[in-house]
Amino acid sequence: MTSRKTLVLVTGGAGFIGSHVTERALRLGYRVRVVDNLSTGDERNLAAFANQIEFIRGDLTDPAVCRNVVRGVDTVFHLAALPSVPRSMADPWGSHHHNVNATVQLLMACRDAGVRRLVYSSSSSVYGDTPVLPKVESMEVQPRSPYAAAKLAAEQYVLAFGRAGLVEGVALRYFNVFGPRQSPHSSYAAVIPAFFAAAQEGRTASINGDGQQTRDFTYVENVVAANFLAATGPSERVNGSVVNIGAGDRTSLLRLVELISEVTNREVRVDHAPPRSGDVRDSLASTDRAHAVLGYSPMVDLREGLGRTWQWFQESLGELTPTTIAR
Ligand SMILES: NC(=O)c1ccc[n+]([C@@H]2O[C@H](COP(=O)([O-])OP(=O)(O)OC[C@H]3O[C@@H](n4cnc5c(N)ncnc54)[C@H](O)[C@@H]3O)[C@@H](O)[C@H]2O)c1
Repeated sequence: MTSRKTLVLVTGGAGFIGSHVTERALRLGYRVRVVDNLSTGDERNLAAFANQIEFIRGDLTDPAVCRNVVRGVDTVFHLAALPSVPRSMADPWGSHHHNVNATVQLLMACRDAGVRRLVYSSSSSVYGDTPVLPKVESMEVQPRSPYAAAKLAAEQYVLAFGRAGLVEGVALRYFNVFGPRQSPHSSYAAVIPAFFAAAQEGRTASINGDGQQTRDFTYVENVVAANFLAATGPSERVNGSVVNIGAGDRTSLLRLVELISEVTNREVRVDHAPPRSGDVRDSLASTDRAHAVLGYSPMVDLREGLGRTWQWFQESLGELTPTTIAR
């Protein structure tokens, strides 16, 4: 990944995080191909730079699509997934198919096409609900949803292909990513866009459970930076590694509501819904390995990230119509 003319593939590039990886790759001077089936993604996420990328609408569960999209590619940023715990509870097979089968198809295509490295977007959900904090990569994993199990399975395929010398692979376990372009519209909306939408529309925000549960909220720019460190780091350190990508700090949902009230200058009221099955109680990343393996440190903290995200919400006012966010 040395030449500025290097071609990179972003799977799931029309999604929230993938669109940011795409934008950064363009800024760094790479040629960028995006593949997305637009199941949860939206081409509008790519609108500002659509004429600078090659966009292929396709589904990675189809081996022919995988073979087509990896042609001439040096590095794959593999973000395509059905990223939802509740959705995986409702449809475990769909979760497995799009998260695991698609990844194995993609890996086989990468092997056959001589792709140098694949950077996989994994998830902190693989750790499950153990009380031990922070989560370190060496601890036992205990997925407690089909989504978490699928992310773990796909992650392990990526690492196994890497260690077997088929395609270099590295897995990044993200902790609760947030930022501009994260949709508040999905019935599975993540908590930060859901709270911002409530602030914007003057609605009561809904919290599943008592609100004392904690998360390591990670601004998207930190995750994007980690992807490029993982793509360019030396093989002997990076290949076959799994690393946490978080902010290394945890915040309760009730504290998050306070911060959102401060950032938006609007009082956000909350009501409480029953806890969601499959959710974990507390989450916090150890970023020691990410620092050692990738040279990663979070650059944007929660408050700064919330400010930037709120700015985006306001600028997008016309596009983000009031919505019913599932409770
Ligand atoms: N957002 C988070 O907090 C978070 C946390 C941990 C891990 N992750 C992982 O990061 C990645 C990106 O998540 P996101 O939040 O940007 O979600 P997203 O839904 O915005 O992006 C996923 C993209 O993948 C596409 N896609 C799904 N199945 C596909 C298929 N079979 N073929 C082609 N495209 C397909 C979707 O249309 C969408 O554009 C996912 O792998 C997710 O598991 C996200």
